[in-house]
Amino acid sequence: MNIGDIVNTVESCSSTNDLAREVAVEGAEEGTVIVSREQTRGRGTRGKSWYSAKEKGLYASVILRPQRPHISLIPLMAGLAVKDAIAETLGIQVDLRWPNDVLWGDQKIGGILCESGFFGNQLQYVILGIGLNLNHEKEDFPEEIRPQATSLKLITERFIDETLLQRCLWKALNHWYQLFSQGEEDKITTSFERNSVFCRGESVTFVSERGKVEGIYRGINSVGGLVLEEQGRKVSFFAAEVKERERK
Ligand code: BTN
Repeated sequence: MNIGDIVNTVESCSSTNDLAREVAVEGAEEGTVIVSREQTRGRGTRGKSWYSAKEKGLYASVILRPQRPHISLIPLMAGLAVKDAIAETLGIQVDLRWPNDVLWGDQKIGGILCESGFFGNQLQYVILGIGLNLNHEKEDFPEEIRPQATSLKLITERFIDETLLQRCLWKALNHWYQLFSQGEEDKITTSFERNSVFCRGESVTFVSERGKVEGIYRGINSVGGLVLEEQGRKVSFFAAEVKERERK
């Protein structure tokens, strides 16, 4: 089955990631998608909430059952799929910020939240959650995030057809997930770097669990980690390690 062959759309839920997890535990097939018109407790990364106004955005979760290791590449391949789908439907090029942000300039249009489930140490499923701001007006965002948030409608000044965007997104996700499943890590990391807001050789500051880390950005490694050169030594970070980051 391909991603998007089954799309279950609900009017409202707390979080599509939670709903998808329930369905995954019950044995739903890989590729099943859950979409909700609104989320009452949408979740973002690093314990933040994801504001999910009714019928303004795309709130979707995809059930994956990867047979390969290196699942840290999944948010990266999802970012690439989002970028491709936006380019195909609207003709604009958005940027990606490692590991899970979709940006327009400095403003956020979307984000990715991957959560996995294990039985013992055996991976059972990955829930790939995608949130995209489609038809939000500025006042649809809570005041505190307004300056950093935008929507595809605000950018293009056109109403965004969610059905078309979804169709392109499932197609693009199938493409990138197939590369992932075939072990073509390099295609994912190279493409991600090409579309990333970070440029090799520039100084970057991150706040990770180790505290503040400053270094020179040296790219993405083959397992999806971000490589920094810190006082002449190369160190890699994984999504979960980074709490905040700022560009110097
Ligand atoms: C981020 O912090 O950038 C990640 C945001 C992810 C939001 C999506 S919306 C669909 C899915 N369900 C959730 O509760 N979160 C993700």
